[in-house]
Amino acid sequence: MNEKGGCGKTTLTVNIGAYLASQGKKVLLVDMDPQGHIGKSLGINVRSIDISIFDVLLEDDIFLSDAIYETTTPNLDVVPTNKRLTDFVINVSKHNDRHLKLKNSFVGLDYDFVFIDAPPSLGLISINILMAINEVIIPVSLSFLALDGCAEMLDTIKTVKRNFDKKDLVISRVIATFYRETKLANKILEKLQHHFGDKLCKTILKFDVKIDQGQSFGKTIFEYSPYSAGAKMLEDIAIEVLKYDGRSSW
Ligand SMILES: Nc1ncnc2c1ncn2[C@@H]1O[C@H](COP(=O)(O)OP(=O)(O)O)[C@@H](O)[C@H]1O
Ligand SMILES: [Mg+2]
Repeated sequence: MNEKGGCGKTTLTVNIGAYLASQGKKVLLVDMDPQGHIGKSLGINVRSIDISIFDVLLEDDIFLSDAIYETTTPNLDVVPTNKRLTDFVINVSKHNDRHLKLKNSFVGLDYDFVFIDAPPSLGLISINILMAINEVIIPVSLSFLALDGCAEMLDTIKTVKRNFDKKDLVISRVIATFYRETKLANKILEKLQHHFGDKLCKTILKFDVKIDQGQSFGKTIFEYSPYSAGAKMLEDIAIEVLKYDGRSSW
């Protein structure tokens, strides 16, 4: 999550998930961004999907398991979404459990990891995500606005922890993205290091056009260009995510 768009949320979700899947973990990706970029990055035509996360959240007799699609990467499944999710907020506005719709849909799942891709805004969808999870991963492109988005995230997380008594919610990793050697980028990196210490991934996701190209072909970086710099950085980041030591079950 980061309320700033274009800081690498979807790219990281897809490729961290794909790497862990390649290592034998069973991984589910859930797209909670109405832009539908998770499905699009994986070559799924999100306009024509029968059942999306929207239907799961709205209908009592449609379950998350009904909306799961296999991907071309073994062990990697996805719950795609599309623009219909935009109507979610208005449709549930009168429901008392409107902030718990996603959490309540997580029943009977058999996965080692579930990664949820978030929209670039902090509203009811993001609250639903925060209520359903225990770890937040924040990508920060090394720009002023992404740093600001990160600060907003910290506030939101604090509010959710306090207002909903969600004590188990932690930021497990902060990932610096789109690094270019400039004074401002280095200053932001220093700030992140100071604030997050060990939670800041040592691997920085630098620019590699192969990442963007892969997505345009509906492929993970490991399918599209497994020996590229992008694949190596995303693999290293995934390993750091896996090694987060505050996770009790691993
Ligand atoms: N390290 C990178 N190098 C090159 N392009 C990247 C990199 N990371 C992301 N991109 C591209 O930048 C765009 C925005 O990234 P994305 O993951 O969609 O951000 P967000 O989900 O935060 O909006 C996408 O087109 C993606 O392919
Ligand atoms: Mg995205």
